[in-house]
Amino acid sequence: MKDWCLDKRQSWLLIFMMLPYFVVPRIQAVCVEEERKALLAIKASLNDSYTYDVNPLLPTWVNHGECCEWERVKCDTTGHVTELALKNVISIVYEDYHRVWPLNISLFLHFNELRSLNLSWNYIDNTIITTGLERLSSLKKLERLDLSSNSIENGVFPSLSALTSLKVLDLSDNSLGGNFPAHELATLENLEELYLSDSSYYGTFQNQGSERVSVLKKLKILDLEGNEFSESLIASLRHFPSLKALHFGHNSLHGSFPAQGSLWLT
Ligand SMILES: *[C@@H]1O[C@H](CO)[C@@H](O)[C@H](O)[C@H]1NC(C)=O
Ligand SMILES: *[C@@H]1O[C@H](CO)[C@@H](O)[C@H](O)[C@H]1NC(C)=O
Ligand SMILES: *[C@@H]1O[C@H](CO)[C@@H](O)[C@H](O)[C@H]1NC(C)=O
Repeated sequence: MKDWCLDKRQSWLLIFMMLPYFVVPRIQAVCVEEERKALLAIKASLNDSYTYDVNPLLPTWVNHGECCEWERVKCDTTGHVTELALKNVISIVYEDYHRVWPLNISLFLHFNELRSLNLSWNYIDNTIITTGLERLSSLKKLERLDLSSNSIENGVFPSLSALTSLKVLDLSDNSLGGNFPAHELATLENLEELYLSDSSYYGTFQNQGSERVSVLKKLKILDLEGNEFSESLIASLRHFPSLKALHFGHNSLHGSFPAQGSLWLT
């Protein structure tokens, strides 16, 4: 029994060791006021486009309160927003395919520490281009941009070419079409993952300047699934030295698998 008793010195030591758990409060960032206002403006912009009650959307985003604790928001320890996971803000509640959210992209310029912006599945259209998409380039830390499953058109690429800090870009399942945007993508030298599935691209990848994107030396994942590229696609992908995964199912590839073109894939 004696073994289990602590002498006075030991119990002080124990109390001392446990102290941080009780006394030091959980480090909780206080969100930056300008960014809190910007979040509320984003929420308010839902009101501009919908006639029905949008109050049930983003219910934790309210006038008072600590915005780092709001749903879909992540902050760093200094209270700057680093992540906005705004996938499906609208259609979770409302299944209405004729809506668009004419989102003014300027609303995001306040988040100087933003690393990840996810706006997929929101009925966003080209308004994000006309409201200054290229100005997101002032967000020097922005690494992940997900605009998949919206109604954005091919004209988006000249604006996107300014966002050189991007590592992950997802534009799958929009209304892109037109030529493969090799010229504009070539500026995104830090890109590691590029998703362009279901984009209605077709024809000979090579003829559309695929060699221009050879500057994407860091590209590891390329998703071109669900387009209509011809079989020359595979051979022309030798331009990407770091490629680890290539998705090209559901294209217009015919003939035998061009082993020669795929050997460089490690
Ligand atoms: C949206 O509009 C409703 C009804 O006019 C209003 O009660 C609500 O406060 C508005 N929400 C925002 C975020 O502006
Ligand atoms: C977008 O927001 C910016 C900044 O608030 C504003 O200056 C601009 O007029 C807005 N654009 C549109 C099309 O509403
Ligand atoms: C966007 O959010 C969805 C759902 O949470 C996730 O699957 C996807 O990977 C995110 N996109 C990026 C680029 O992080």
